[in-house]
Amino acid sequence: MTEAHLKLGTKPSKQNKTDKDVIDADVTALLHWYDIHGRDLPWRRRWPDLAPAYHVFLSELMLQQTVVATVIPYFARFTERWPNLSALAASPVEDVLEAWSGLGYYARARNMHKAAQILTSEYDGTFPDAAELLIKLPGIGPYTAGAIAAFAFDKPAIVIDGNIERVLSRYFGIGTELPALKADIAAIYPEMIPATRRSDFPQALMDLASQICQPKKAGCDICPLSHSCVASRWNDPTILPVKPAKTPKPVRVGKAFVLCNEDGDVAVFRRAETGLLGGTLAFPSSGWDKSSPEFDWLEGATLKAKAPITHVFTHFRADIEVFQIEWQKQTSLPEPFFWTSSTTALPSLMAKILKSALNDQGRN
Ligand code: ADE
Repeated sequence: MTEAHLKLGTKPSKQNKTDKDVIDADVTALLHWYDIHGRDLPWRRRWPDLAPAYHVFLSELMLQQTVVATVIPYFARFTERWPNLSALAASPVEDVLEAWSGLGYYARARNMHKAAQILTSEYDGTFPDAAELLIKLPGIGPYTAGAIAAFAFDKPAIVIDGNIERVLSRYFGIGTELPALKADIAAIYPEMIPATRRSDFPQALMDLASQICQPKKAGCDICPLSHSCVASRWNDPTILPVKPAKTPKPVRVGKAFVLCNEDGDVAVFRRAETGLLGGTLAFPSSGWDKSSPEFDWLEGATLKAKAPITHVFTHFRADIEVFQIEWQKQTSLPEPFFWTSSTTALPSLMAKILKSALNDQGRN
C-alpha cells in the first residue's frame, strides 16, 4: 500500500492474505457485479470483445461535460454519417460542427476533427494503442488517452474520471483534497488493474459510481467493493472525497440583454472557441467578462428589467442584471449577432438569463 492509502484509513483486513489478494478478490466481485448490472451503452463492448477505438474516441469526447443520455443520439448520428475515422477526417469541419450543435463547447468538435486528420495522415487512419501517443492528439488528455487504451485495446492504462476518483478515494480511504487527490489515486490505481478484463474494469467502476457509490449516498450494503473498502466502515463514507474549503469568490457585476422578436427568436452571438464558455451561444452582455461584441446599436431601446441572476464559475461569481427588449425581426442585427430559436443547448449561465428574460414577472 502506498502512503496515500494510509492518510485517512486503515489497511484492508489481510487475514493472512496479501493486500494484492484482497484487492484482486474485490475487483473480481466488482466485475461479477458489472456482468449483471453494468449498463449497455452503444459505444461499449464487453470483454473479450473490445470497442472500436473510433467509437471510444467519439463517445469520450462527447461525454466531456455532457451526460450519457444526451450523448446517445449524437453518437448514433455521428457513427451513421461518419462510420470511420477517415470519413470524419475527410468531412468539412463545418459539417462536423453543425452535427455537434447542441453538445456545446465547440472546441471539442474542432479538436476531434483535427485529431481525425492527424490520425489519418500519420497513422493510416488507425489509433495507436498507447496512452503516451494518444495524449499527443488535440483534445485528448490523460483521462481520454487512458480510456481509449483501456476500452479499445485492453491496455493496463490509468483511467480516472471524477466518478472513479470518488469510488477509489473511499475504497482506499484517501483523504487528500481535490484536485491533488487524482495524483494519489493514480499512484495506487495500477495495484487494482486486473490481469484480464482491463477494458471492463474502469467501466465497471464508472457504473458502480453512478449506481451505488454516489456523491451523497454510498450504498455500501449492496456494494461489491465493500468487503475491504476503508470508508464503508465509517459512519459516513460520503465525507470522501474531501473537497477544498470554499473560499469566497470575487464577484463580477454585469448586465445582459435578451432581444426577442415577434417569432419568439432571440438574438445571440457565438463566443470565441477558446476561453470561458468557448464556442457557445451568448446574449449581448457587459461587465462580467470582456468577450461580448459591441452593442451600442441597442442604445435608446426600451428595456424591461427582469429578475437578476447569479452564476458561480470556478474563479468568480457573476451577478447579472437582466433586461428584455422587444425587437423587430426585419430590423437586421449587426454582425456577429443573429436570431436563433434553438436555445436548448445554451450553457447554464445563458439559460438562466433567458429564463429570467422570458419570465413575465419583472424584477421583484
Ligand atoms: N463516462 C465517460 N465514459 C464513460 C463510459 N465509457 N461509460 C460510462 N460513463 C462514461
